[in-house]
Amino acid sequence: MWKKLAITSLLLWVISISYIGYRVMYGTAEVVDKRTQITLNGEDRELVLGEMRLLLKGLKGILGGLADNDFKKVQKSASGIGMVMAVDINPSLMSKLPMSFKTMGMGVHEAFDQLASEVYQMNEKQVLKRVDKIMSSCLACHETYKIIEEN
Ligand code: HEC
Repeated sequence: MWKKLAITSLLLWVISISYIGYRVMYGTAEVVDKRTQITLNGEDRELVLGEMRLLLKGLKGILGGLADNDFKKVQKSASGIGMVMAVDINPSLMSKLPMSFKTMGMGVHEAFDQLASEVYQMNEKQVLKRVDKIMSSCLACHETYKIIEEN
């Protein structure tokens, strides 16, 4: 009797740990056509897409600043889309995002923080080169994932 109970609880424990591990690794992701689709509720989807639009806005600020030789604006725009943005992401949303999505996302925010901290030692061309490099991650992630709203 006790042995059976012990085996059952061990099994349940293994199943829960595996499930948690799976969720940490893959979130709610599922492969469709060429991209992997992530299913989020309306609120979380809007939060992620809202951050995307802020990234685009930040890029515009960087380019506008460069065009006007306004490095203060470049610096502010880059730091505005740095790690400060990542604080909005709640644990429940984190558990739905695949690991590589989170890694790429954090990588982009860190890269903008780094650009912000180095911008005064750089010339226009170096900033553009750095932005071009960061944007490879925007493209890589867009080619890999799509987000749909759960119904
Ligand atoms: C970690 C992955 C990831 C990274 C990095 C990323 N994106 Fe996205 N982005 C997405 C996904 C997923 C979508 C939704 C695409 C879909 O569902 O078809 C999206 C959508 C967008 C949208 C559309 C937003 C809307 O309202 O529909 C914009 C604009 C955007 N991204 C800009 C950017 C820019 C600019 C960068 C880089 C500075 C970037 N993204 C980096 C994953 C990423």
